Amino acid sequence: MKKFLDLITEHLQDAFEASGYPKEGITASLSNRPDLCEYQCNGAMVLAKKVHQAPMEIAEKVAHVLLDNPAFEMAEAVKPGFINLKVTGRFLTEYIGNMVREEKFGLDNEEPKQMILVDYGGANVAKPLHIGHLRAAIIGESIKRICRYMGHDVLGDVHLGDWGLQMGQVIAELILRGMEDNFTVTDLEEIYPTASKKCKEESDTYDKAFAEEAHRITGELQNGNAQYRKIWEKITEVSKEDLKKNYDNLEVYFDLWKGESDVQPYIPAMIQDLKDQGLAYESDGAYVIDVTEETDKKELPPCIIVKRDGSSLYATTDLATLVEREKLYCPDYVIYVVDKRQSLHLEQVFRVSRKAHIVHEGEKLFHLGFGTMNGKDGQPYKTRSGGVMRLESLINEVNEAVLEKMKDNPDISAEEAAKTSKVIALAALKYGDLSNQATKDYIFDISRFIEFEGNTGPYILYTIVRIKSILNKAGKEADGEIFFTGEKAEKGLLMEAARFSDVIETAYKELAPHKICSYIYDLANAFNTFYHEVKILSEEDEKKKESYLSLLKLTKEVLEQCIDLLGFGAPERM
Ligand code: ARG
Repeated sequence: MKKFLDLITEHLQDAFEASGYPKEGITASLSNRPDLCEYQCNGAMVLAKKVHQAPMEIAEKVAHVLLDNPAFEMAEAVKPGFINLKVTGRFLTEYIGNMVREEKFGLDNEEPKQMILVDYGGANVAKPLHIGHLRAAIIGESIKRICRYMGHDVLGDVHLGDWGLQMGQVIAELILRGMEDNFTVTDLEEIYPTASKKCKEESDTYDKAFAEEAHRITGELQNGNAQYRKIWEKITEVSKEDLKKNYDNLEVYFDLWKGESDVQPYIPAMIQDLKDQGLAYESDGAYVIDVTEETDKKELPPCIIVKRDGSSLYATTDLATLVEREKLYCPDYVIYVVDKRQSLHLEQVFRVSRKAHIVHEGEKLFHLGFGTMNGKDGQPYKTRSGGVMRLESLINEVNEAVLEKMKDNPDISAEEAAKTSKVIALAALKYGDLSNQATKDYIFDISRFIEFEGNTGPYILYTIVRIKSILNKAGKEADGEIFFTGEKAEKGLLMEAARFSDVIETAYKELAPHKICSYIYDLANAFNTFYHEVKILSEEDEKKKESYLSLLKLTKEVLEQCIDLLGFGAPERM
């Protein structure tokens, strides 16, 4: 089904043509002066130079033609050459009627189906999930859902950090304590930082012998030592179980639970191939690949794939992961939802994989780099005592704040409040994050995120709950014909609803969940204005009432679909 703006564009183009002008490049846009018009077109101004006519002259001619078109109730040329438009209620409700009937509200999958892999989450084994991983989980989950809704085949991969030196450090510490057969996540939470500190020269607990032992164990683990492998397996098992629980609580679900360890078998052959192709060369005992391209303003450092001691690195693993992905899934598009501070690393990986034909011709690799979540002081969010915040504690903090707020509502039992507060807290957390452009840093402000009013997740939920309650009170099916009864607020709501396909498609193309957030905020506002200005349940004209209820139902369904794409749901009451 065509998008509403595209329909208006078609009418505009026809009118330009009928007035004797070329129609190429003529488009309609939403008005940025809603006090004057609903949609507008600046085509006359663009055309003026080309056809050597004054913009106003063109705009007037075209507007004149448009006036005969039943899609428009107003078409006006205004200085210096805009065409201001208002659509008729009938044109709008015809489109809305189709939205109601069509699957996915008429959203088309314009592109051929693609195989898309979303690399997000990126948690590390043996380390508890901390808030650094929160954004990767929240944004990635939404991106995955949006791609899937657009009709593509999509796989989400958690790409666990389950390999490398940190594993050797943890194993060394477990052996030292005689705990290698018997430990829990809670133990790991303490063991990991302790062991890691003992290996850092600048730390006060630095232990040279221990550091060397950890290094040795890492090497042997990588060479297949059975004893260490067994301990490693136990660590990943214990850790994964805990991670799954945490991700479940966040309603973040991965299709693939692969990790860096899974691709180690590909590394030797890949490195050989990179050498054979003449791409990898020795430098100071290490092996590196040049990645700078002619168009670069600044030279990029070469990508190191083998360290001097013969071990592989983060980049090696990411390259091998692409080798495996190519073999198993042959994706058309790989999206990395990873902290933007890793952009150089990923750029190096992308360039090497293209140069070495690890990925196929035309395969898109994209780094959706996100900014940092800061506290109100503008510094990375910390616990009250200044440590790195555990994700679980953070979620509990938000839950409690919401629960506290819900105490104000005497109609809701303690039991229901406990359940509902979790739903609201998740919406607060996710919307608080997603409503910001992913690449920007943002301030994590619980008290603002949990507000029931303003641009927040709970406000959106509150709107959905309000509509549900009206529909329940009406007590009948809201599936009558939607027609325009002439109310201003009604038109505003219809116009917002009609934007759905456009917004989702843009959010997909730009990988921008924040566009869905700002859309549902506008839609919720349009609904609330309608609710305050138009009597719905007390409307005496049954036909009108039915039309209103059906419009409400559509609004609710659009909102519910959108929050599902953002990764959360709505409660029955709040
Ligand atoms: N585990 C990494 C970290 O904690 C993130 C992994 C991101 N994904 C990737 N393919 N490199 O920093």
